[in-house]
Amino acid sequence: MDEMPSRADLELFRAAYKTVKDIVCVRPGESLLITIDSISDFRVAEEMAKAGEALGAKVMVAWHSTPRGYGKAADPYLPDPLIVACPNTDAWIELNNQWLLYGTPWERAVTNGRTRNLMLGGLSAEQLIRCIGEVEIKAQVAFQEKVVEITKSARRMTITNSAGTNVEFENDRNRPVTNELLADTPGGHFLLGQIGWAPREETINGTLVFDGAISGGGEADIGVVSEPVVYEVEKGRIRDIRGGKEAQIVKRWFEKLSDPGMYLAAHVCYGFNPNARLGFTTTEDERVWGCTEWGFGYQGPMYSGGAPRTAASHIDGICLDSSVTCDGVPVTRDGQVVHHELVELAKACGR
Ligand SMILES: [Fe+2]
Repeated sequence: MDEMPSRADLELFRAAYKTVKDIVCVRPGESLLITIDSISDFRVAEEMAKAGEALGAKVMVAWHSTPRGYGKAADPYLPDPLIVACPNTDAWIELNNQWLLYGTPWERAVTNGRTRNLMLGGLSAEQLIRCIGEVEIKAQVAFQEKVVEITKSARRMTITNSAGTNVEFENDRNRPVTNELLADTPGGHFLLGQIGWAPREETINGTLVFDGAISGGGEADIGVVSEPVVYEVEKGRIRDIRGGKEAQIVKRWFEKLSDPGMYLAAHVCYGFNPNARLGFTTTEDERVWGCTEWGFGYQGPMYSGGAPRTAASHIDGICLDSSVTCDGVPVTRDGQVVHHELVELAKACGR
């Protein structure tokens, strides 16, 4: 009985409507493109399309073959019409499991001065409901803006966690600190609850222990790890990868991509979505409250502050329950917000 409502239909539509109206700020007459590969949850695309229609947009859903990799690694698998469509729209919501993010159509779209891109890669109906639908946007804005301010003013930072992460680096004040919440300006945006930036690569030294999840697309589309994956990093570059079976998969994937640019740090991020849970997909995993995340390889313009730094692909790893310091001042301790200017704001977000 396909005319029967399915589970949480109303909650799903509300979350989709909130995304299209309040986050992407779609206006009457605008073109809204929604892209989704064949292994993602199509209900999400359908409800977003309905929301766009209700808001007076010209809507198109591109449902397409699933690529076998992220970013540039996805390029060879993309249908020609998709490549043309992505940079030729006012608003683009990406729901792909295998990311178009950091690939050629994405690069064209986010640098054309027109397209507002929102990356919600792989989010299922339930994930969209909890990670957007049930988040109090106003409280989140206040909290995230303060985190950005504290981070922007920091010169030296450290991150540790109980799994063994121990890394230090310096920030470059000329580079942006992204505040992922709204996608109301041209360029690339991500799911709310993430703040990211690219520290000065040559200052990044230490050990990254990904005890949460790791996600690189293709054969490295791992998700939650059974044993931590460890990178030893010197001057922003991975010198050694160790751990268990997942570390071996990651190592082989790097070798297969055969690009020295893959070993260079692209960004670090805080995860601060109050409802995010580990174990569903990267887009949600990397926003688990109090985690930090490191990306390697392709560096988007939102992090470089200028032209993108291109690479064969991009891979992200998540350090759970991080302790972060900014110029010696603790911001989080074991994943809990402790900075005196943030504690009350975090409470208002439900944390
Ligand atoms: Fe990343």
